[in-house]
Amino acid sequence: MGAFDVSQQFAEARIAQLELSDKQKTAARLVLGQCAECHSFGVVGTDAAPALGEVYEGKVAAGAFEYSDALRQAGGQWSRDRLLAYLTDPGAVAAGTYMPNPEIEDPAVREAIVNVLQALKEEPE
Ligand code: HEC
Repeated sequence: MGAFDVSQQFAEARIAQLELSDKQKTAARLVLGQCAECHSFGVVGTDAAPALGEVYEGKVAAGAFEYSDALRQAGGQWSRDRLLAYLTDPGAVAAGTYMPNPEIEDPAVREAIVNVLQALKEEPE
């Protein structure tokens, strides 16, 4: 976790390659930093949250984590649209999920975060 987590460095580096304004890149980095307060971007989760390295197009609640019943029972996969919906309003995807609303104001930044999740899955470091 923190500055020495290679998966976080990979995630942050990925932002630079996206088609975003400098302002949006800064916002996306800040949002990633918030995710990292609970999540790892690698494949091993933390005590606070499941790992995000393999969620993209993977099964919902498939990590080694004590998930809420809400997320466990949600079923299905993390498609791009479902991830966008979860990052817009977690409770709308799984009422009672433990994850707080990340309150990402700019939809382009939300897309960017999902692009990073896709990159983590498809181009593991
Ligand atoms: C305050 C801690 C916290 C923050 C900050 C946070 N999350 Fe989460 N997240 C969780 C927890 C806890 C879960 C498991 C939810 C459950 O069991 O209902 C979760 C679940 C998830 C899942 C589903 C994982 C799975 O295995 O199915 C994704 C995707 C996700 N978070 C992405 C993010 C992203 C992206 C960010 C940053 C924008 C973020 N989270 C910020 C705590 C957090």
